[in-house]
Amino acid sequence: MSVFFEISASSGAYQVVIERGAFGRLLQPTEDRVVIADEYFVPQIEALGHKVIPIFAAETSKELARIPEIISRLREMGASRKTTLVAIGGGVVQDVAGFVASVYMRGMPWIYMPTTLLGMADSCIGGKSSINVGRYKNLVGTFYPPGQISIDPELAATLSVEQRVAGLAEAAKIAYCRGEDAFSQYMAMGPTVHSETAALTEAVQLSLGSKKWFIEVDEFDRGERLLLNFGHTFGHAIEAASHFRISHGVAVAVGMLAALKLGGELGRHYDTHNRVHALKGHVEELLGSVSELGAAAREMTLDDLMAAFEADKKHSAGHYALIVVREDGDVERLLMERTPRSAELVRAAFAGVLERFGS
Ligand SMILES: NC(=O)c1ccc[n+]([C@@H]2O[C@H](COP(=O)([O-])OP(=O)(O)OC[C@H]3O[C@@H](n4cnc5c(N)ncnc54)[C@H](O)[C@@H]3O)[C@@H](O)[C@H]2O)c1
Ligand SMILES: [Zn+2]
Repeated sequence: MSVFFEISASSGAYQVVIERGAFGRLLQPTEDRVVIADEYFVPQIEALGHKVIPIFAAETSKELARIPEIISRLREMGASRKTTLVAIGGGVVQDVAGFVASVYMRGMPWIYMPTTLLGMADSCIGGKSSINVGRYKNLVGTFYPPGQISIDPELAATLSVEQRVAGLAEAAKIAYCRGEDAFSQYMAMGPTVHSETAALTEAVQLSLGSKKWFIEVDEFDRGERLLLNFGHTFGHAIEAASHFRISHGVAVAVGMLAALKLGGELGRHYDTHNRVHALKGHVEELLGSVSELGAAAREMTLDDLMAAFEADKKHSAGHYALIVVREDGDVERLLMERTPRSAELVRAAFAGVLERFGS
């Protein structure tokens, strides 16, 4: 059975199809296509008779300096502005392909098939591409959604436990931010790292359905969509301070716990809130299966975490910009004046999670 929905965007509506076995069908021979894919899938794609631009799925591949190589490859393969770029992979491939598609001959059509749970449940919709410039992660990018997103949940079967945690953490975050109903529906599905394809498909569907609301009311990240940055300001600092040993989705999971800790430091009481407890318990359980987290946490220093936090592009000169949980359980955007006292509270939140995972 396939699930279909449409996302409206200023560049026109685009389709999302969730269908088991879609991988084989996507790669039926058709004219005028160029495939760009995670190295992991290259042998399978070549076996189906396609030439592929391979991408090694790591932050270094998202460097702006690496983009010209890919653009030259497209030119050498004879791509015109009418050629469709077919991108197959996780968030790294999505970011690179989305960026390249948006600038190649001023924009070429593209199709995306996410292969990680994070890609399926979160990043595939919303149209963003993010490229790293030197030590600045995701500093440049474009809004250029693919014309079609094709999700084959069976691809999740080969993902590592850490990759599953990363995707489920982002899915839980989206459902939580959407509100009480979406989150309780999500939790009732009981998603775990051991969930079978059918259960993961349900989780992906609910997560995308919830994210659809945010990106349609606020396509360009000016209001409501910013709430989806819950866990991300702390998370980005954790990714950076771990030298990217901790992957994005896992760092966001730890980041949500840090944001809750900061809420506590700010004097907010969550004691009576089942939704907050459910989220905390779920995220802690997910993180419990990431075996490398302890070692990575022990290697991080509070100074590195604070330096990365301070450098986040979402802050302004006078304020830290953070998503925190209110006492009623909803998320809100908080602008905290950049004072030594605020820095101390942020540091205490980081210290809390380091202690939790690093001891
Ligand atoms: N543009 C956006 O909206 C957006 C949103 C969130 C994250 N991101 C970016 O996405 C990146 C992280 O992406 P990600 O977590 O999806 O993964 P990834 O692309 O970094 O891949 C992670 C690992 O999983 C492997 N892999 C991919 N699919 C697999 C499969 N089906 N089976 C086995 N192994 C597989 C890859 O080879 C790689 O080793 C970060 O750079 C982050 O900044 C972008
Ligand atoms: Zn994220």
